[in-house]
Amino acid sequence: MNRRNFLSTTALTGVGLTFNSFGVNAANKKVKNIRGTFSTDKNRISIYTNVPITKTRIFHITDTHLSLDDERGVPFQKYSKRMAGAYKINTHFQTGEEQTTKESFEQTLNLAREQKADFLALTGDTFSFPSEAAIDWVFQKLTDTGIPFAYVAGNHDWHYEGMPGSSEQLRETWANKRLHKLYQGNNALFANYDLNGIRFVCIDNSTYEILPEQLEFFKSQVKSDIPIVLLMHIPLYMEGRSVGFGCAHPEWGAKSDNNFEIERREKWRASGHTKVTMDFYDEVFNANNLLTILTGHTHRPSLDIKNGIPQIVSGANAMGFFTDIRVEEMS
Ligand SMILES: [Fe+2]
Repeated sequence: MNRRNFLSTTALTGVGLTFNSFGVNAANKKVKNIRGTFSTDKNRISIYTNVPITKTRIFHITDTHLSLDDERGVPFQKYSKRMAGAYKINTHFQTGEEQTTKESFEQTLNLAREQKADFLALTGDTFSFPSEAAIDWVFQKLTDTGIPFAYVAGNHDWHYEGMPGSSEQLRETWANKRLHKLYQGNNALFANYDLNGIRFVCIDNSTYEILPEQLEFFKSQVKSDIPIVLLMHIPLYMEGRSVGFGCAHPEWGAKSDNNFEIERREKWRASGHTKVTMDFYDEVFNANNLLTILTGHTHRPSLDIKNGIPQIVSGANAMGFFTDIRVEEMS
């Protein structure tokens, strides 16, 4: 999502509220109530579960929009030029200082290491286009932290503007050719990572759509009693939100696609979302073991709750933002 398309969302800063998790299954004694409560303060969120887990601290990092490049990127400049010029200098969300995206990413990882984060959750648009130089640099930086991580792509990570091909084709091409190392041997479209009794489930919705194999994978994940944290790039539709909260938004489609020309890509589907995408939406918000959804894309922090499930949108790491999430057992 480009700078022009920032959404007006609810900022978390200073909210400091505690919400009860009124899970839809709470009254059904046959279903284990895995979700507990959650609370937020500034860019910190605590998520509580009713099942035994080891307390885990997650740094949620999204939308860094790195555009580092080298001679390997020269043949692609006709596709990368616009986004290479975006987010060059940004204002840090806390200090107000001007800094580059590279500095923001490094600072966040340094902080994660200093503060002994247990897991790094990267939810896409780490890159402004699939630059080899940037991907190599990020992979090395992540590896150097020694902290386990999961990465799911955003719509810019695989997008060279103006390059022929559908979104699905371009995603497949650049996931295979460039982004593959970030998936650590796992499927780029759906994967899970287990840590400390928590399952991190990645579903790539960066085309705004869910594929049948992703829906089947997700269904298999929610059958278990393992608490799940879901990672995606694009937030799921919330009533009253704009089409930017586009995954499963009822008005998503060609008529509401205002950016296809500037982003030089195919227009969104005329007929709106597929049934698979809508079915996925229902599966997510009926998942008894889903603790939270971590997303990005809008570049502004927000929190929505549906069926007792908090959907967290982290602010853009281009501005140094990250969300510091602690998952622990309710005492
Ligand atoms: Fe973005």
